[in-house]
Amino acid sequence: MMRDMTRPIVIAANWKMNTTPADAAGLARTIASRTREPGVTRVICPPYVSLAAVRDALAGEDVGVGAQNVHHELAGAYTGEISVPMLAGLATWVILGHSERRAYFGETDELVGKKLDRAIAGGLRPIVCVGEVLADREAGRQEHVVDAQLKGALEGRDPAVLVAAGIVIAYEPVWAIGTGKNAFGADAAAMADAIRASLRSLGWGDGADATPVLYGGSVTSANIGEFLAEPGVDGALIGGASLKPDEMAGIAARAGITAQARGLAS
Ligand code: PGA
Repeated sequence: MMRDMTRPIVIAANWKMNTTPADAAGLARTIASRTREPGVTRVICPPYVSLAAVRDALAGEDVGVGAQNVHHELAGAYTGEISVPMLAGLATWVILGHSERRAYFGETDELVGKKLDRAIAGGLRPIVCVGEVLADREAGRQEHVVDAQLKGALEGRDPAVLVAAGIVIAYEPVWAIGTGKNAFGADAAAMADAIRASLRSLGWGDGADATPVLYGGSVTSANIGEFLAEPGVDGALIGGASLKPDEMAGIAARAGITAQARGLAS
């Protein structure tokens, strides 16, 4: 495939339901200081209650702060939920449709689409997660499943608006998340191609090639190279390893090599 050299390398930390406001700031600062690599876009997504602490800890660092989810309405009787306007000044990125949100909180592709609309209208940069469960992979249905997820969330939306908002797609096979069983680089590369084919079939044209596709699922400093060796893969969404500064330093160092090789590091 032809590679659009303007795609950034993104390493995004998804801390999930870990850290307290008291320890999040120190962890963010440590990770930031150990992951500075030219051409590598860094994002840290702590729990909501640690957003302010992480934002403050990262003042002066070129690290994006992201939320792990957001509600699709602006305000109202939704006990326990957080809306896009509430994130103003706290986060500039947001993870949408993570498989744990889908599995444990019933999020559908349609809902992910509604969240996407709100996120973009509110100026948040979305990381939209897709990925198949093990039964789908074993049946060879993974590309069909991901295509349906993308269509369900993106259809009817103006690709130019989504691309201008810097949308990122994260391919996270559910069987690889938190299991220590990562996909092969070739599988991630094949899916990145399939994702861009899905986007083209939705009328994205060149926008498909301009959209970063990340891999996620048991990424570590030991296996990140396998994914970044694939020209169609533009970085990683990292869960468990993102809580470990040594791991993040190793992942960022490898990402820095890729950024340089792809001409992004100048
Ligand atoms: P993991 O999580 O790296 O712990 O597998 C990835 C994710 O859920 O984004």
